[in-house]
Amino acid sequence: MKEIKPQQMSRNVFDAIGKDWMLVAAEADGRANAMTASWGGMGVLWNKCVAFVFIRPQRFTKTLIDKADTLSLSFFADDERAMLTYMGRTSGRDEDKLAKQNLTYSTVDGAPIFDRAKMTLVCRKLYRQTLTKDGFFDQTVFTQNYPNGDLHDVYVVEIEKVLVGE
Ligand SMILES: Cc1cc2nc3c(=O)[nH]c(=O)nc-3n(C[C@H](O)[C@H](O)[C@H](O)COP(=O)(O)O)c2cc1C
Repeated sequence: MKEIKPQQMSRNVFDAIGKDWMLVAAEADGRANAMTASWGGMGVLWNKCVAFVFIRPQRFTKTLIDKADTLSLSFFADDERAMLTYMGRTSGRDEDKLAKQNLTYSTVDGAPIFDRAKMTLVCRKLYRQTLTKDGFFDQTVFTQNYPNGDLHDVYVVEIEKVLVGE
């Protein structure tokens, strides 16, 4: 693993997140978990390189994110699609998904770093807020995405380390 600057990332962020998906992972109380995410982004805010992710309230990973100071965003090779699909359909509340998918990891700054990931962003939480119905200018976006009222929490996180496989 070597560390690069966020500005040196070569992947197109729309493809990396929206098309190829990522794992959002956190560790708290001696337990690590991860979930697949395909919504989110990266950019600049408060003069910092940041990422933002949107997590629904029922995700087990959210309980860990809320307790931890850091989280990781991990990107994998194309042949990991089955693993990412599994991590996006099963809950860590019901089983140890990491063990099941053989996702061995180490911990960097309190966040899980998966051995198999091609690129990992170690991120520190800066901000969290729950989306509100009133906030939507286009109410069809609200009705299409939140028929059960489970609005996402948005987390803005500072990208503190970008680790890439050698
Ligand atoms: C392709 C894909 C993308 C997903 N993107 C998100 C997302 O951005 N936010 C979210 O809250 N859930 C998302 N999910 C759903 C979670 O990954 C899923 O509910 C997962 O089982 C939660 O696991 P957990 O309970 O162990 O945290 C996505 C699922 C898939 C398959």
